Amino acid sequence: MEPTPPRTPGGFATRAVHGATVPPVQQHPLSVPIYLAATWGTDTSAQIGDLLTDAAPGYVYGRYDGPTSTALHAVVASLHDAEAAWSAASGTAAIHAALDVLRGDGRVLVTSRLYGGTWALLERLRRDSGWGVDVADLLTADDVRAALTDEHTVVHLETIANPTTSIVDLPAIAEVCHDAGVSLVVDNTFASPVLCQPLSMGVTLVVESATKYLGGHGDVVAGVVAGSSELIGRVRHHIYELGASLGPFEAWLVTRGIQTLPLRVRESCANATVVAAALAAAEGVLAVHHPSRPDHPQRHLVDTVLSGRPGGVLALELPSRAAAEAFADACEVFVRAVSLGGTHSLVVHPGSTTHRQLDGASMAAAGLRPGTVRLSVGIEDVDDLVADVLRALDAARTAPLD
Ligand SMILES: Cc1ncc(COP(=O)(O)O)c(C=O)c1O
Repeated sequence: MEPTPPRTPGGFATRAVHGATVPPVQQHPLSVPIYLAATWGTDTSAQIGDLLTDAAPGYVYGRYDGPTSTALHAVVASLHDAEAAWSAASGTAAIHAALDVLRGDGRVLVTSRLYGGTWALLERLRRDSGWGVDVADLLTADDVRAALTDEHTVVHLETIANPTTSIVDLPAIAEVCHDAGVSLVVDNTFASPVLCQPLSMGVTLVVESATKYLGGHGDVVAGVVAGSSELIGRVRHHIYELGASLGPFEAWLVTRGIQTLPLRVRESCANATVVAAALAAAEGVLAVHHPSRPDHPQRHLVDTVLSGRPGGVLALELPSRAAAEAFADACEVFVRAVSLGGTHSLVVHPGSTTHRQLDGASMAAAGLRPGTVRLSVGIEDVDDLVADVLRALDAARTAPLD
């Protein structure tokens, strides 16, 4: 047993405020401690200035960083084989920081196969903050070469597009960007570092919504960025100056989630492959989009870009919006909920949820039809998941055609 620390001096109220001193701990706890400190004391006032200007290492204020997020940054940098990583209050804040740091005074070239929230962010920045944003279908090196102009300074892509699961040819695209002197940001949320480590393919910064696979339990909203120390230093300033830092409890949840990331992603991929096959063999399904399917247009990239695994998200095409909604409404194991990449299997109709911000043309460009349904396959028993989607298909078959 640790001895009770010596009493702090002073009166009753002073001791009430200052009396809980931190005991010296010699052992290493298995779980990273949650440091809920908004501010940190120093021995001299000069030290505060040194800490604030990064002249000395250490902690000074919770918005800048804290030990719990340092632990998260270390594990994310390690999994992405990066010099450094930083966290943000959401994946959206991480994307904003990465693009703002890299765009300088140039234009952003962004894929049309884009998550709706990122589309809304860029639309706002274009409208209200004067960002130059151009959208094009950017799956291959040729697509990027054809769309790039001298005005572009940064390209933004998603490793696996949401919800059609198209895969971008990252190594070839990174080479085009490198030759053109343009930075490349990749949103790796759907792949996670288990399937893809974009920095090793020549990408400038990788961003992820840690709300999804990294956190993995549907209990935290967070984002991460990984890359060179120099760029992450600039990302860090961006995030804390805009007040978009991740709190210590959220950093802890993501750090804990990451411990089981490889197991969860492996199981999700295996389950998704079985569910995709069952749907593809079922009557009434017009198409199944999943990299495990033999007819997936970028199946040749599964080995080179996705380490041989197809991901845990798939989409299916039903004949009408009514059929898609009937399918989702009939699910009992798949939960009707947005988000993805967690323990629970989820079902959404993207046209009315995740991609609702897109106008008709942008929705078509993202590969969305009225009858598209997206499934994020979790880690439940695969037989229960297959039975659920087959039951839901029975309900969808009786729905009217639009
Ligand atoms: C591919 C992708 N990127 C980014 C985000 C945004 O993440 P967050 O909700 O953590 O801001 C999402 C959210 O669904 C996403 O699916």
